[in-house]
Amino acid sequence: MRINENTLLEGKHVVLVPYNAEHVPRYHQWMASPELQKLTASEPLTLEEEYEMQRSWREDNDKCTFIILDKQRWADPSFPEEECMVGDVNIFLTDPSDPSLAELELMIAESSYRGKGLGKEVARMMICYGINKLGVKKFEVKIGLENKVSIAMFKKIHFHVLSSSEVFQEITLGLTVNEALQQELLATLDFMQEREYQKLKNYRHEGKNSSTMPAHQS
Ligand SMILES: CC(C)(COP(=O)(O)OP(=O)(O)OC[C@H]1O[C@@H](n2cnc3c(N)ncnc32)[C@H](O)[C@@H]1OP(=O)(O)O)[C@@H](O)C(=O)NCCC(=O)NCCS
Repeated sequence: MRINENTLLEGKHVVLVPYNAEHVPRYHQWMASPELQKLTASEPLTLEEEYEMQRSWREDNDKCTFIILDKQRWADPSFPEEECMVGDVNIFLTDPSDPSLAELELMIAESSYRGKGLGKEVARMMICYGINKLGVKKFEVKIGLENKVSIAMFKKIHFHVLSSSEVFQEITLGLTVNEALQQELLATLDFMQEREYQKLKNYRHEGKNSSTMPAHQS
């Protein structure tokens, strides 16, 4: 999806940036891990296929992808962006006849960053973006039955069980957008800002700490 190609979402501990070609080598390294393949139900791809996937995610109108960066590390221009990557988050518009239905996918790939509240923060940020920018009204997540952490995390942010399959070893959780959810997101995400990715990137390239760039300039 091109809608977010110049969008940076700034949270408390993370920034979300569009998935670019420069992120692909690190992403490819992550997905070589059998643990992550299992947890995310993914097949390993060659590096070439991963570049192709990145291009199609950028072009296709049914998928919106952000890379999750460590905000504090990224603010320091001496770290290349690739070294600030922590994971990714996607919204998939799965039903062409109902663009208000979305599947959410989230991965904190760097294990040292798990269990610190990042998953919850990113999920809320992406839900907020999906509601406000993409018009999503219902979210679903499909999770392997063994992935207790992910199931607990999504339940914590009010997803409920829609179905569970012993055959596929998968549970589907859902969240319907309503007034109460929107109020909670407003209250818990009052720090979230949307900024221009390219402007902040240029600022970093000039060797400046991106956290010092005034918000009104981006
Ligand atoms: C699942 C995942 C997204 C959770 O993100 P995270 O940053 O580790 O989770 P958070 O620190 O935000 O924790 C959120 C909630 O999850 C639960 N949780 C987190 N770590 C847990 C653990 N080790 N055991 C049990 N529950 C846990 C808790 O309910 C926690 O809420 P609390 O801190 O208020 O009690 C992340 O661990 C991950 O990406 N893992 C690998 C890939 C994956 O499984 N992706 C999901 C595929 S469906």
